[in-house]
Amino acid sequence: MCGIVGYIGDKKVSEVIIEGLRRLEYRGYDSAGIAVVDRDGTLSMQRSAGKLTRLCEKLEKNPIDHGTYGLGHTRWATHGRPTEENAHPHTDNDGKIVVIHNGIIENYLELKKEMESKGHLFKTDTDTEVAAHLIGKNFDGSLIDAVRISIPMLRGHYAFLVIAVNDPDKIVAVRNGPPIVIGLGEDENFVASDIPAILPYTRKMVFLNDGEIAEVTRKNLNIYDFNGEKIEPDVQTINWDPIQVEKGGYKHFMLKEIFEQPRAVRDTLYGRIAPEEGDVYISEINLDEEQVRKINRIIIDACGTSWHAGLVGKFYLEQLTGLPVEVDYGSELRYRDPIVNENTLGLIITQSGETADTISAMRILKEKGARLVSICNVAGSMASRQSHGVVYTHAGPEIGVASTKAFTSQLIALLLIAVHIGRRNGFLKKEEAMNILEDMMKLPHHMEIGLEHLPGKLEDIAKELSNKRDFLYLGRGLCYPIALEGALKLKEISYIHAEGYPAGEMKHGPIALIDENMPVVALAPGDKVYEKMLSNIEEVKARDGIVLALVDTNDTNLIGKADYIIELPIVPDLMKPILYTVPLQLLAYYIAVKLGADVDQPRNLAKSVTVE
Ligand code: M6R
Repeated sequence: MCGIVGYIGDKKVSEVIIEGLRRLEYRGYDSAGIAVVDRDGTLSMQRSAGKLTRLCEKLEKNPIDHGTYGLGHTRWATHGRPTEENAHPHTDNDGKIVVIHNGIIENYLELKKEMESKGHLFKTDTDTEVAAHLIGKNFDGSLIDAVRISIPMLRGHYAFLVIAVNDPDKIVAVRNGPPIVIGLGEDENFVASDIPAILPYTRKMVFLNDGEIAEVTRKNLNIYDFNGEKIEPDVQTINWDPIQVEKGGYKHFMLKEIFEQPRAVRDTLYGRIAPEEGDVYISEINLDEEQVRKINRIIIDACGTSWHAGLVGKFYLEQLTGLPVEVDYGSELRYRDPIVNENTLGLIITQSGETADTISAMRILKEKGARLVSICNVAGSMASRQSHGVVYTHAGPEIGVASTKAFTSQLIALLLIAVHIGRRNGFLKKEEAMNILEDMMKLPHHMEIGLEHLPGKLEDIAKELSNKRDFLYLGRGLCYPIALEGALKLKEISYIHAEGYPAGEMKHGPIALIDENMPVVALAPGDKVYEKMLSNIEEVKARDGIVLALVDTNDTNLIGKADYIIELPIVPDLMKPILYTVPLQLLAYYIAVKLGADVDQPRNLAKSVTVE
């Protein structure tokens, strides 16, 4: 949450920063600001409430044309309303130290009171301004020293960038939780909270670790731990294509990312499977035969859409490995006292690799002795670095706040892991694994067929249903988590209330809600619970609910019963959740578009939730 960008170099500083913020706007978009320092030490700042375009309008009237280094921020408010006054950057008492920040400084009130008693004047309600004042108070000519002295006084989970007019031509970056990535250029350097801001300029990047401070000048990068010990930067080359962070002719990133799914699934799969051997090879999973044989329990830790992937993963893993699997929300797991030992495998699912609740819970699993494998989409992210092993999803950068291609890629990764473990612990027979892997290879093609036929039909249905205020999504077995995911997609981007339910639970409560105004999206593929789903659909129709049924191609059982029918290619049961996700994403998308909602940046949300 919150996007931060810093640049030092010969390019037009304000342009690089605004362009970087544009690429990070998915992290927060309720206010924005920029600060640039000129060669003669003049500090120029502009801030604005609202989206980045409001800041750009201000900059058109009062451009910041000069400058050699600077910072910019796009905010997701935690402390203080999203006003211009509370927008970052914030300055110290003398207006010479400038800070932008992501995260929360928990003891800011205590620090504020103490500094107020010594004459400091605060202009905002933010915790960030307190950090600026503190660094200003400790400044004695060296910015990095002032930051180092201030850090032990700050409590919380934060990342910030600081510049000082009186220690010019450098940006100091601190990471104590939320991500910071540094992009290395020729005679110029970049700092940001996420890769897309930097990707158009360089692929050489350094990810700061927790507890590190970086001093970035146009020619150098020096990294230290909080005790001042120097650390050698670990430079990585990112293989994402800059084109992937553009809309490429689509109206929204979300739509583009829905259409990218066959490619994302292929990329996550290829190079890792040997169907003729009935096996998968994922070296970075870092689980050898002996470690696999020791595992007697799996705990999945995730949030949001990734948690839904975990629910599907439970089916995959139990069925293919014979091991008991629990799926927990990071925000719950972290406050429980889970039963974990060295025979437990902790499976961490996170697109960003930065979700605060997921990360805290994974640390607890690790402390208790679990071996950790993360399924992650961002190379070098916190989750990937703190796990013993990692299975990267190769979805590419996901910019739309509503997760789409990352989810279906996570399901592929979970199937791969299930086959990997099942083959090594002796539970999964070679022939069965061979069949599953063959089916996985055919899946992208089935998704492509779906994507050819579905959009027009779903757009029409969306037009008819977009005036409804409540939706119920029902599924059973492997498709029950997909019902939850479909409902989440709809509420996130269209602000329509939607509930996902295992269809068998409907009669225990939600059935009371059904009337002629309630659309019920029923996932009814031809699997082993198909007939049960048909009965549930009958129950909905008996109460005048509006049924949109998703079924296998050529299923005629619901003609004349369901109000709308969407047919999907027939695939084996394990593949169905992946395929059946696509129409639900499109339905949510077209309803949101019809309602004029901001699809890629829905209100109150942010892509990476780095606060508790
Ligand atoms: O990056 P993560 O996978 O850890 O993110 C978890 C959730 O915040 C995320 O899936 C969220 O629910 C999405 N907005 C869903 O579309």
